[in-house]
Amino acid sequence: MRARHVAVIGTGYVGLTTGACLASLGHTVVCADTDRAKIQRLREGRVGILEPGLADLVADGTAAGRLTWATGTGAVFAPAARPVELVFLCVPTPMGAGGLADLGILEAVVDEIRLLVPAGCVVVTKSTVPVGTAERLTQLLDRPDVAVVSNPEFLREGTAVQDFLHPDRIVVGSDRREAAEQVAGLYARLGAPTVLTDSASAELVKYAANCFLAMKLSYVNAVAELCDRVGADIVDVTEGMGHDRRIGQEFLSPGPGWGGSCLPKDTSALLQLADSADFEFRLVRAAIDTNIRQHKRMVDKIRVAVTGRQAGSLSKVRLALLGLTFKAGTDDLRDSPALAVAALLRQAGAEVIAFDPAVPPAGEQAARLPFAVAGDAYQAADGADAVVVLTEWPEFRHLDWARLAGTLRTRAVVDTRNLLDPAVLVRAGLTWTGLGRPVRSALPEEEAPEAVSSPAPVGAHP
Ligand code: UDX
Repeated sequence: MRARHVAVIGTGYVGLTTGACLASLGHTVVCADTDRAKIQRLREGRVGILEPGLADLVADGTAAGRLTWATGTGAVFAPAARPVELVFLCVPTPMGAGGLADLGILEAVVDEIRLLVPAGCVVVTKSTVPVGTAERLTQLLDRPDVAVVSNPEFLREGTAVQDFLHPDRIVVGSDRREAAEQVAGLYARLGAPTVLTDSASAELVKYAANCFLAMKLSYVNAVAELCDRVGADIVDVTEGMGHDRRIGQEFLSPGPGWGGSCLPKDTSALLQLADSADFEFRLVRAAIDTNIRQHKRMVDKIRVAVTGRQAGSLSKVRLALLGLTFKAGTDDLRDSPALAVAALLRQAGAEVIAFDPAVPPAGEQAARLPFAVAGDAYQAADGADAVVVLTEWPEFRHLDWARLAGTLRTRAVVDTRNLLDPAVLVRAGLTWTGLGRPVRSALPEEEAPEAVSSPAPVGAHP
């Protein structure tokens, strides 16, 4: 593998992972960002995002002299530096008006580098971009001596380094074959299956993959609802499904809805793309609708668990929410289903207090939330009526549930991730309500929440 000189524009979660991992593969990488303070922090070795292994790779790359930092986009082409052979564009493409990706930042960067890119250089888009973007950027660049290549990333937050260094596949698309091969060559050491294609196909792979995952999750959430209605157990159902290699065991856990910075954005963008191609993509539309409905279903479940009635009131009910991030292993709150459920609970009149291991009560994230954040689960549950698990942080399994049972006004725990061991909770004197599984109650059968017809034992609050 030939070591290349690479520039990465944008040091967000994708850019920083790309830069640090390419440096670890032996390439020389300069990472640029317009945020001066961020670059300063990176120079001091402070990564600023919760991503296992990333800080070590940044430190190793910096120590080896293969990873350097630049403030401002143009600085990566400084005349003294060795000519850049490949430029990775890793800037945000947020959801814009009507659900379509907003390419404003990407286009501004291309405009800025247009006259600075050395002849023969390859410009690579890593950001998720609508089909046709490579073509558009080629026109904007207006540099026949510079090729544009699409190389979508498939990194999951929380396992980004692992995903980068052990990818299921590498996808590279361009109408200039040689340039695509150069990009694929950067990853040669990884030995991953590589799909070399045209730019439109490469751009579509990312959307098609993420929307498929979203459909899979909405499907499993719907099957879990069916399990609730017919008395089946989703754990056994998904295990039975997952052994079929055509389906696979992954992405089969029901939850409060899928969220994060990618799936919601990419499903909307694919719908828009289909729309603009005069195609009604009903499957993706249904996946989104099912997801929105899932948030409401969680509130219904909580209502039944706490009040014992489908129509019970959550007014003044105090709920301890465990987990706020969109999944475990990240501190990211973007499009988190936990926040969507919290908002609906508050609309229904409930008081919520949350705890999340990645959201410190005195931090910036907590300050922006419209409800209180506690320092630990016990504090959150103190005086609460019930506990609701919204993110699958493994440590919640090992809480002292007997201690929590002592502080809760009702004995209800609603586990929207099927994370906890119901037997442990029942032994602690609690009633466990999950998704697509029978309620497990410490109470005698006739007093269990589902069977209760009178209002719940929710006490009035001082
Ligand atoms: C996703 C894609 O997986 C990744 O390939 C792409 O590059 C970026 O988008 P990410 O957003 O980090 O990654 O999260 P992911 O792990 O895919 O989870 C997405 C959502 O689905 C989360 O809210 C998660 O909690 C939920 N989920 C996932 C489930 O509810 N059940 C599952 O079994 C798996």
